Amino acid sequence: MGRIRLLSETVASQVAAGEVVERPASVVKELVENSLDAGARDIDIAIRRGGISLVRVIDNGCGMDRNDALLSLERHATSKIRSAADLQAIATLGFRGEAVPSIASVSRFRVSTREAGAIAGTEIVVNGGKIDVVRDGGEAPGTQVEVRSLFYNLPARRKFLRSENTESRNIEHQIHLQAIGHPEIGFSLMRDDRIVFQLPATTTLGDRIRDLYGVELLQRLVEVNGTASAKIQISGFIGQAGLSRQTRSQQLVFVNGRAIESNVITGAVREGYHTALMKGQYPVTFLFVELDPAAVDVNVHPAKREVRFREPKGVREAVVRCIQRTLEHARANWQEKFSAPIRPAPAAADSVKATGDLSLRSEVTAPEVTHRELPHLGAPAGVADPGRAESEIPGQAPRLPERHFDSAAVVASALQSQEHVTKAAQQQFEIIGVLSKLYVLMENANGLVLVDQHAAHERVLFEELRRRMEQQGVPTQKLLLPQTFDVPPRDADWIEQNLSVLQRMGIGIESFGPDTFKIDSLPSFLDVSDAAQFMRKVIDDLKSASNNASAMRLGEEMIAKTVCRHAVKANDPLRYPEVEKLIRDLLDCDLPYCCPHGRPTMIQISLAELEKKFGRKI
Ligand SMILES: Nc1ncnc2c1ncn2[C@@H]1O[C@H](COP(=O)(O)OP(=O)(O)OP(=O)(O)O)[C@@H](O)[C@H]1O
Ligand SMILES: [Mg+2]
Repeated sequence: MGRIRLLSETVASQVAAGEVVERPASVVKELVENSLDAGARDIDIAIRRGGISLVRVIDNGCGMDRNDALLSLERHATSKIRSAADLQAIATLGFRGEAVPSIASVSRFRVSTREAGAIAGTEIVVNGGKIDVVRDGGEAPGTQVEVRSLFYNLPARRKFLRSENTESRNIEHQIHLQAIGHPEIGFSLMRDDRIVFQLPATTTLGDRIRDLYGVELLQRLVEVNGTASAKIQISGFIGQAGLSRQTRSQQLVFVNGRAIESNVITGAVREGYHTALMKGQYPVTFLFVELDPAAVDVNVHPAKREVRFREPKGVREAVVRCIQRTLEHARANWQEKFSAPIRPAPAAADSVKATGDLSLRSEVTAPEVTHRELPHLGAPAGVADPGRAESEIPGQAPRLPERHFDSAAVVASALQSQEHVTKAAQQQFEIIGVLSKLYVLMENANGLVLVDQHAAHERVLFEELRRRMEQQGVPTQKLLLPQTFDVPPRDADWIEQNLSVLQRMGIGIESFGPDTFKIDSLPSFLDVSDAAQFMRKVIDDLKSASNNASAMRLGEEMIAKTVCRHAVKANDPLRYPEVEKLIRDLLDCDLPYCCPHGRPTMIQISLAELEKKFGRKI
């Protein structure tokens, strides 16, 4: 007797549902996509108990007549494609005619829908895939779908669901994706009868990002410079260099309006950020890639979460270039803040008088030629003790020596190239002092800037090293006495393999017997006293960076970063001219606002923020 049997329609739907409906968030995704495809202007979503007890989506889209409403519950029934050829160029979010029947087969399902202008609507109730009720419905034009008791008839599936909180978070993320992808549509979300957000329809993506994530995030984003390529357009916003997250939750990528996960694109974004991204962190992106629908296959993933590009290489290159260009542009904008004049001096002097002798800058002294230690605000004098700091009377406030660095002439003597002089002359900032031997405090046109001296130094060294390596000429300095040092055999292998890279970096290192090396020179801008110790530290660091044998294949970039990190000395108090030069060099870097490892080098605190904090402005 034959053993093969055709599955009933209901069981077949449940099997299909296994792929399409993984969890409550997939229900939300499919229903919202249907609403978007139906041309809705507003979509209201309500969930209860992580969407397990209820998901309801109400839209004001085109609605369906009774026949269509019944058909929508059949498998492979869709209004969106007709022939296989249509699969080549899909312009809607749905196309398989699978979602509605799949969801209806694993829940208690109700749809109520009405076309605009129709006298009556239709209400259909389905339980576990079986139609129970079909009757006239009286809702407003559009479609309402309610999905209750998800997986009530598939207990095995239900067991795989996570906590209500986790499921809710997944749903919220899903709606964030849709809301960012469609700023022109109004969205609202109710969770367990409480409003989570209400997003009015807006005309710009920026407004939507602000409404959803707040103005603070928006301010740290840069608008992508649209690429001019005819084949592929890229737009949206990305995080400034130095802005990153520990998860992928704000790494949003859309291809032709569809939120997707794509290794091709995320890899390209990472490459575009290059050293502007902290290791192990994820960038913040709201990236929209548009290309000919025929150049993308969207029919490759059961939940339509991934796509395949016909020319992945072209897409990759376009994204890398676009990210690089955007970050470069952002840098130019940032520099502008340093080139605007700081508030006029007389006004500042007036306010000094008005507040007695409270000012930290009572006078402007001429630039000194001799080196002088910078003031350290974090001196042990009880500054860390808030009580004491507060009780300090104005006349006794600690006074900092005052310096102005806005004269181009001062810099001119220190800098060689004419180009440097012009650039530097444009950069207006004023160093106030150094906090805790580490943070340089300065004022620019926008307010207060805090610079992490070490991170800044690393960035400057790194870019210099990279530039010199490209030009094949890292100037070196001979050590007074060549040093030899032993390393364990594994480390020796590593050094052997990377000898040429190290040499190109200006490190004069060569084999000197088994597991022994000799160093006789170092790059002259590295101020290192013990070359052998320095090399050991670099190697240790590189080993721990990758923690396995692939350390042997670490790129030259990585080696350069590590060399620079160890070249910067901790708690090395800099002097005025050094700090000033450091800041100018930093501002001249390609990516001034983060160190080679992606940590921020500087933080801007705007005057507006200060006013808010001090309650001057609400
Ligand atoms: N909210 C809605 N408003 C109007 N029509 C809808 C709505 N939801 C579904 N439909 C209709 O029902 C059909 C079936 O929906 P379903 O989601 O099952 O398939 P699909 O969207 O065509 O493809 P996919 O399975 O890829 O989502 C749709 O093609 C559409 O015509
Ligand atoms: Mg659909």
